Amino acid sequence: MKKHIKAEESSVKPSNSLPPGRLGLPLVGETIQFLLDPDFGDKREKQYGSIYKTNILGRKTVFMSGAQANKFILSSHIDYFSWGKGWPNNFQELLGRSLFVQDGEEHKRNRKLLMPAFHGQALTKYVTTMEQIISKYLSRWEKQKNLTWFPQMKQMTFEIASVLLLGSSPEDNIELLAKWFGDLSNGLFAILPIRASWSKYGKALAARDHLLEYIEQQIEKKGSSVQEDALGLMIQTRDEAGRSLSKEEIKVQALLLLFAGHETTTSMLVSFCMALGKHPEILAKAREEQMALGIERGLTLEKLKQMTYLEQIIKEVERLYPPVGGGFRGVVKPFVFNGYYVPKDWIVTYRINSSHQDRNVFTNPQQFDPDRFSGEREEHKKMEYSLVGFGGGPRFCLGYAFAQMEMKIFASLLLRNYLWEISPNQDLTLDAIPTLHPRSGLKVQLVSKELPQNNQH
Ligand code: HEM
Repeated sequence: MKKHIKAEESSVKPSNSLPPGRLGLPLVGETIQFLLDPDFGDKREKQYGSIYKTNILGRKTVFMSGAQANKFILSSHIDYFSWGKGWPNNFQELLGRSLFVQDGEEHKRNRKLLMPAFHGQALTKYVTTMEQIISKYLSRWEKQKNLTWFPQMKQMTFEIASVLLLGSSPEDNIELLAKWFGDLSNGLFAILPIRASWSKYGKALAARDHLLEYIEQQIEKKGSSVQEDALGLMIQTRDEAGRSLSKEEIKVQALLLLFAGHETTTSMLVSFCMALGKHPEILAKAREEQMALGIERGLTLEKLKQMTYLEQIIKEVERLYPPVGGGFRGVVKPFVFNGYYVPKDWIVTYRINSSHQDRNVFTNPQQFDPDRFSGEREEHKKMEYSLVGFGGGPRFCLGYAFAQMEMKIFASLLLRNYLWEISPNQDLTLDAIPTLHPRSGLKVQLVSKELPQNNQH
């Protein structure tokens, strides 16, 4: 182990100072700046370096950045940290006692029980449904011609998640479910958790209750029949002792999966469309790969595996536009990192976005360059935990394969069948909360590739 990341409790000496930074005003700390300033983290990192302290969401928090910090938090010293104590209270209340906030044995057991819905056979069965839903939305957008992609994409990823995860059917009111979800997400970072019907937080609580009720109805509808969606698999799966998840456990886990499974994917898909819209040469190469695959009928897992250039692009989108800025943890054992002391009961956040800007790992990190992930370069392999858009270690994103599949199917259909152009005069500044997205929502013109165009890419 490197000398400067010693963390045994015996090495924690009172002489070690706290990380640099400021705690701001009592109670409020720097919460307002954190929520409103997209450059909050970068400004402080410039001033104080890759580890600094602040006070946000009512908690003393240390931000840490870089591959070594990621490895420390996500893997080598994972038992110094608690997810349950890390995620802000709003998350705990709105998303319930789900995988996100569980630790130790409870987490291990639940993760195992959720796993079958995200691996192997289950994934193979999701391809056709994903393709059908995505094709439906693409042809709807083609008719609209001018659209704002972010909210539309959210509806699409939400429909995919609710059909494949909950077994929702076309008769269910997906738009209403999506609206409730929007209200729920808006409450996650509400500064003042006021419980009133008119407040952001009050609306989020009401939306949570409607969604849990809907999930309960879905569970009851299934009864004892065998179903192939994630909810069906969750009901059927048993642990080694033959125990299954209780109905209440299934309800909150399903709510978390819906949340984790569509907000993040929406963000990455919109960034994908924006990046390719800005880089016609990369777009042309991606399209060439798609055409060379000779896909005539439906997509298959085998075909998806052959899309190696598309994989590089998706990795580069993950690096330059990570949907989630970082992960919160509660400190359960004090430690020293890089010579700085972090006390018990403080919060630590690993910074995904700034780790992806490390010049020691990534050449010209500001540049969108999918070739950095080509077989010859593979820059992310220089240092473990340098690319962490999906987290890392034993709690690596459970839905990684699901999300990759969805993004590839979307990209393949879009590249083969459509042309799009980013409309002028819009604000593409990136806002980080709740997930990364261009402020304007990405306004585009989308047309079928078959139509004659004056300005084809
Ligand atoms: C582009 C899409 C996605 C991105 C960027 C993403 C990102 C992440 C990240 C960064 C973490 C770790 C958070 C931390 O360390 O604090 C995580 C965990 C998780 N993700 Fe994803 N995610 C995506 C899609 C999905 C999907 C589709 C699902 C499920 C349907 C999902 C379910 C989860 C779950 C359950 C965890 C917690 C795992 C655990 O604690 O064991 N994610 N994801």
